[in-house]
Amino acid sequence: MNGFGLELSDSEFQAFSDLVYKKAGINLHAGKKELVRARLAKRIREDGFESFGEYYHFVINDETGDELVQLLDSISTNLTNFFREPKHFQFMAQVFLPEIKHVALKKGGRRLRIWSAGCSTGEEPYSIAVTVLENLPDFDRWDIKILATDLSTRVLQTARQGVYRAERLADIPQEVLRRYFQKGRGDWNGWFKVKDQVKRLVVFRRLNLVEPLPFRKPINLIFCRNVMIYFDKNTQTDLVARLYQVLADGGYLLIGHSESLTGVSQTFHYIQPTIYRKKT
Ligand SMILES: C[S@@+](CC[C@H](N)C(=O)[O-])C[C@H]1O[C@@H](n2cnc3c(N)ncnc32)[C@H](O)[C@@H]1O
Repeated sequence: MNGFGLELSDSEFQAFSDLVYKKAGINLHAGKKELVRARLAKRIREDGFESFGEYYHFVINDETGDELVQLLDSISTNLTNFFREPKHFQFMAQVFLPEIKHVALKKGGRRLRIWSAGCSTGEEPYSIAVTVLENLPDFDRWDIKILATDLSTRVLQTARQGVYRAERLADIPQEVLRRYFQKGRGDWNGWFKVKDQVKRLVVFRRLNLVEPLPFRKPINLIFCRNVMIYFDKNTQTDLVARLYQVLADGGYLLIGHSESLTGVSQTFHYIQPTIYRKKT
């Protein structure tokens, strides 16, 4: 059966859309029907299902929850890049890290927790790690952890490998590339691998942002960029309130350039577009 020829009725689309909204907060409005059809048809074809309806029933009756994870993997959009939205990395280097160093000098305690929420294939957390290493010369005397989470197990697999095509790294300055990435040879010609020094700082986990956040200790900086665009206002409002709770006093939240907290949160202090701070 060629899944690409399968029909997705409006009621079937609505059923998938409701399920995805309930489980992941992702808002699939009518304009997304063709995208959903194309992405799920691929999955249906691979698994040998006869129709969207049959697949839907399989997903909701699968007690392991594995097929739901696969379904969400197929639906999620994972576009990302190294040092995407460079002004956030400049902000880290020029404002955030100097502030953290200043506090460490004054109060002692060299603990740094950064969270990349919706990290996709790893480019964002690795860019964060490189920025930390470049701007914290005594990093080995700090307790640093960059937590990188995503809903999709597929992207997390790529992220953990930390191996990227050379084209994906084309905009990184040569000396930074040399310091933090290893050039592949032989069969790996045309590929680069993130060096262990960078990888060591990053911990990858699957985390659904609509579910309770498992953090016990405060986080200094959260990147939650280009994730909330897929959520409706209620889901955004709820998530932002929970991000506020897990941030340290004076901690920052960075969001994507097409996102805003206007109408979503009144608790955050606005610093500049896409940069917000928890009041101290
Ligand atoms: C477009 S990517 C953004 C990647 C990166 N933050 C950036 O800005 O380049 C959006 C990511 O959010 C993830 N995502 C979507 N819904 C999610 C949810 N409910 N919980 C966790 N991650 C989610 C997707 O799997 C995807 O990898």
